[in-house]
Amino acid sequence: MDKLRVKGGKPLQGQVRISGAKNAALPALAASLLTADPVVLENIPLVNDIFTTRRLLRELGVAVEFESDHSARLRAAKIVSDEAPYDLVKTMRASVLVLGPLLARTGHARVSLPGGCAIGARPINFHIKGFEKLGASVRTEHGYVEAVAERLRGSEILFDKVTVTGTENLMMAAVLADGRTILQNAACEPEVVDLAGMLNDMGGKVQGAGTPTITVEGVSELKGTTHRIIPDRIEAGTFLVAGAITNSELELIDCNAIHVSSVIDKLREAGVHIEIAPGPTASTRLTVRGSEDFRAADVVTKEYPGFATDMQAQYMALMTQATGTSVITENIFENRFMHASELMRMGADIRIDGSRAIVTGKTRLSGATVIASDLRASASLVIAALIADGITVVDRVYHLDRGYEKIEEKLRSVGAQIERLK
Ligand code: EPU
Repeated sequence: MDKLRVKGGKPLQGQVRISGAKNAALPALAASLLTADPVVLENIPLVNDIFTTRRLLRELGVAVEFESDHSARLRAAKIVSDEAPYDLVKTMRASVLVLGPLLARTGHARVSLPGGCAIGARPINFHIKGFEKLGASVRTEHGYVEAVAERLRGSEILFDKVTVTGTENLMMAAVLADGRTILQNAACEPEVVDLAGMLNDMGGKVQGAGTPTITVEGVSELKGTTHRIIPDRIEAGTFLVAGAITNSELELIDCNAIHVSSVIDKLREAGVHIEIAPGPTASTRLTVRGSEDFRAADVVTKEYPGFATDMQAQYMALMTQATGTSVITENIFENRFMHASELMRMGADIRIDGSRAIVTGKTRLSGATVIASDLRASASLVIAALIADGITVVDRVYHLDRGYEKIEEKLRSVGAQIERLK
């Protein structure tokens, strides 16, 4: 298992290119199942969750080729299997995103039920309830969820709770259903909007994505398209925090500042300087300038456009270096503070009280061997390691490799002393 070895204390300087969004690329890859025509996806991040999805799609019969320029060429001319097996789903919950497209295209799908994971129980009951509303009969047996429908019928679906992949799954199913589907209390995340745009380019009729009410008029078939994946807002936020904590000047290119607004606002509230300038091809350029004396600022994780749960761990690392006490409230997942105890082992002063973490800064952090429990927790430990005294070894780097493209190369290119131990 690879590890990362980080020597703390070096300021960073330079430019980092932000990759395409993993969480937008995953549903876009699944959407290729909806048509027999070729689909080209550009700006695909080369991370392990994407490679897992490639494996899954190949098992289903999709011809998938990745090019070195971050594009993927896909063609689901014929679906040869409609089953997502346990060994793939257990490594990546987002495999459940093939359920909607498979059901819509073939009338049948069998997907292993994802179990809980390091950040919470993460059931898929709202996905299942939605498919049933569209007329599918769904049963869960032997650890699999199996959905059957001769033809899906449009319906009104009210999500009990906002769910990102649930909204995406139902949107992909409804696009080929008979009649109109209205999704209420839908997720407003940019990744949902990106998927809706792709489906519309394929001939779908999806309206309202980005608001809590999405209307889908079913069509009888979809055609191929070329679609560019949006920039990764969580990777951008992670590098903003890395710049802030190291009191550095970092320029992020190829990102979308609007998608990162909640993080920018929160960092500015804490006293970090961030400039936004237009960049080429509708992207923005963000410059973060750290400050010696940034201050504690409370945060509550929320659905978009609120502060993303996927930025909570990185923000906690930053708050260990802020002056004062901050309260970080995690509202989305019930068990997403696993990084706190590792940060404490490095010297942080953090108290967990239910869904709140109370962080008192500024504390000196010292390098240690730490274990990451999930993707964003790992990013938080790498960020803490950048300013810790001495050497930090971050174990179980496979979590990071699931969602950050070449994070150590990007950090090294701006001056961090970081290396991968094989
Ligand atoms: N939930 C249910 N039942 C459902 C679906 C969700 O109870 O059927 C609950 C979840 O347990 C959670 C809340 O609803 O408490 C929200 O979960 P959601 O369904 O929105 O999460 P997700 O779609 O499984 C996506 C991202 C996550 C991100 C969350 C929240 C992808 C592939 N994953 O997960 O990303 O944290 O939305 O924004 O889009 C990551 O990239 O590190 C990551 C975990």
